[in-house]
Amino acid sequence: MAKQLIMPPDNLQERIVYMERVRQWNFASHMKRKVYVQTFGCQQNEADSEKYLGMAVDMGYEQTDIPDDADLIIVNTCAIREHAEKKALSIIGQYKHIKAKNKDLMIGVCGCMVAQEHRREELKMKYPYVTFTLGTASLHHLPRVLWEAIETKKRLITTDSSEDFTTTVAEGMPVHRGSDYRAWVSIMYGCNNFCSYCIVPYVRGRERSRNKEDIISEVKTLVAEGYKDITLLGQNVNSYGKGTNTDFADLLAELDTIEGDYWLRFMTSHPKDASHKLIDVMANGKHIAHQFHLPLQSGNDVVLKAMNRHYDMERYMDSVLYMREKMPDVTITSDIIVGFPGETEEQFEDTLKALSCVRFDMLYSFIYSPRKGTPAAEKEQVPDTVKGNRFDRLLATQNEIALSQNSPLVGKKLRVLCDGVSKGDSQVYSGRTEGNKIVFFDGNPAMVGQFVNVKINKAEAFALWGKVIK
Ligand code: 5AD
Ligand code: SF4
Repeated sequence: MAKQLIMPPDNLQERIVYMERVRQWNFASHMKRKVYVQTFGCQQNEADSEKYLGMAVDMGYEQTDIPDDADLIIVNTCAIREHAEKKALSIIGQYKHIKAKNKDLMIGVCGCMVAQEHRREELKMKYPYVTFTLGTASLHHLPRVLWEAIETKKRLITTDSSEDFTTTVAEGMPVHRGSDYRAWVSIMYGCNNFCSYCIVPYVRGRERSRNKEDIISEVKTLVAEGYKDITLLGQNVNSYGKGTNTDFADLLAELDTIEGDYWLRFMTSHPKDASHKLIDVMANGKHIAHQFHLPLQSGNDVVLKAMNRHYDMERYMDSVLYMREKMPDVTITSDIIVGFPGETEEQFEDTLKALSCVRFDMLYSFIYSPRKGTPAAEKEQVPDTVKGNRFDRLLATQNEIALSQNSPLVGKKLRVLCDGVSKGDSQVYSGRTEGNKIVFFDGNPAMVGQFVNVKINKAEAFALWGKVIK
């Protein structure tokens, strides 16, 4: 499954030295130490975890899916909502028993949650068996931190923030990919938008882009290795290359010239700078999936302003109409937050109206969760019962829309990338369309990781069903 990226020779000397030390330490022990990586949150975290795992494997650890068997556990955390943090803390709590059985176990808590000082403090005081923490901008320091922990046998949890959030773009980490046909490629890190509800700019730092050449080289390698579905990642991909003479649309157009049979997609875009130029590049592209994830958050202009989103419904609808004009088959998906502080019943109803107007193919709906340190958390909150009620109504409205978006696909032939047997029924295979819709069909093992043509014979709100055709 796993493929390794070649490490370029620049800026890696320190990492190489520490990786070699840990590798030798593992080698000298004559035991096969194991690593377990647990990931919470978004695709960016998944991509980061593939690098943690890549580095650990390169340092001589063997991957395990069983935390009890591990000698090194890395928990890659999310901070976007309180629930995500609670879940991570609960899992870390369970690892206490594994540490009790294996005194040499090292536990690293990494990612967005530990970029917050109060969480590092909490881990230091209440979770004495946690060995080290590493924030999102320090991921490439894993070899050094691990070596220091091995050598000093000390815990390495700093309560002050020493991360470089403004410039760090680490290249050349070995990547242990979770799939050999779908791949994540980070193109930029951080966010400058400071939406008033969001913790991301505080835990992932300022926007910084990777060099175009590094991205092109990574995508070329992936296509040559047979990857079929490549997703470019960034908190706000439209900001790619800001301050340079290139932009995201140019990058996408250049990547599209790479020869091969693959889909190229990206997430996430900010509606304030989703340009006609970008949509034109998508429409004219050969490999660029006609799928656009464009988080709306709210359908009311006053709420959008309070969210610090810098667009209104008119601007949003302009993008939607232009997309549908240029790509009639486009799949549009979105994120909505219900119960933002101060959201009135009428304002929430505007969001329901916006759903009916835009007609999203799929929606990720969230109940607003106050995040410490963000402006919205200080405002008067909407009661939980009201939030819950709005959430249910939002889902009910969207279910009907999703079904009506999928129904016209019955009778159509769609290209599907096969993922394997479905979770619920081993007789049925599942895969994803270019628009990222789930399809269930009569597959076989040889189809896994391959494109197949499926004639759709049934549509539901969240999935399509069909038969494989030649
Ligand atoms: N509460 C609820 N949802 C949030 N999101 C971001 N911050 C919060 C929050 N504090 C949602 C947004 C974003 C998605 C990734 O998570 O909809 O687009
Ligand atoms: Fe958060 Fe807004 Fe940045 Fe997205 S654009 S990561 S919602 S601050």
